[in-house]
Amino acid sequence: MADQSIFNVKYPIIQAPMAGVQDSALAIAVSSAGGLGSLPCSMLNHDALHAELSRIRSQTNQPVNVNFFCHTAPRFDARAEQKWRSILQPYFEEYEVDIDDIPAGPGREPFSHAATDVLESFRPEVVSFHFGLPDQELLTRVKSWGATVMSSATTLDEARWLEANGADVVIAQGIEAGGHRGMFLSADLSRQTGTFTLLSEITHEVNVPVIAAGGITDAKGVASALSAGAAAVQMGTVYLRNNQSAASSSD
Ligand SMILES: Cc1cc2nc3c(=O)[nH]c(=O)nc-3n(C[C@H](O)[C@H](O)[C@H](O)COP(=O)(O)O)c2cc1C
Repeated sequence: MADQSIFNVKYPIIQAPMAGVQDSALAIAVSSAGGLGSLPCSMLNHDALHAELSRIRSQTNQPVNVNFFCHTAPRFDARAEQKWRSILQPYFEEYEVDIDDIPAGPGREPFSHAATDVLESFRPEVVSFHFGLPDQELLTRVKSWGATVMSSATTLDEARWLEANGADVVIAQGIEAGGHRGMFLSADLSRQTGTFTLLSEITHEVNVPVIAAGGITDAKGVASALSAGAAAVQMGTVYLRNNQSAASSSD
């Protein structure tokens, strides 16, 4: 059943956070229109995070979701670096790409106390995570200002884990989902199912509200997810061609 009261928004629609292809402009547009806009924060340094949240709070008084990753940051491995470079070398030559001319992109930072220090002054209504949840100390800090915490599950096991470890809402992220999926208990793709199968499994087994994400692009898809037990939907790819998206024509 649709349950807008979870997020205090008019429509049971969450604009999916999409790191690298959107910023506060899309979040502001969606929240102002009655959905739940999301700001992807994993690629923002703390000054940028502060600036983006200031922009959101100055342009809408509606609820907003901020999204972070909870991965363990990989350590630089010179051998692995050398290996992938040599595998791709024929393509660099074919397309005359000098790899040393390619500037390094921003990394993906795991959620931290420093990020929470920035969030505390803005008190975002919803905080969502990818790749599990932060440790209990960080989670307690996030919940201290009343934020609703959600995270993505790509399997029933992950949904059970999220519920047991403090998620207020679970996002059932099916295999159709665009971008990357937030798997964190297993990397075995054969265990993942489509959005509607996963939604049904999770709604039967967990007690917190469940959001459907993956392959939903229109009103019929939204209605189907709600009638299958989703409290709301989270849609990403469908927003990429929106005027407020920062995706380039080649993304
Ligand atoms: C380009 C792109 C980037 C994404 N980046 C994130 C992200 O930073 N954090 C996150 O939680 N989900 C991310 N996702 C996944 C979305 O949250 C959501 O699960 C997905 O978009 C739903 O499937 P759909 O694209 O078919 O609507 C991303 C999705 C896309 C398409």
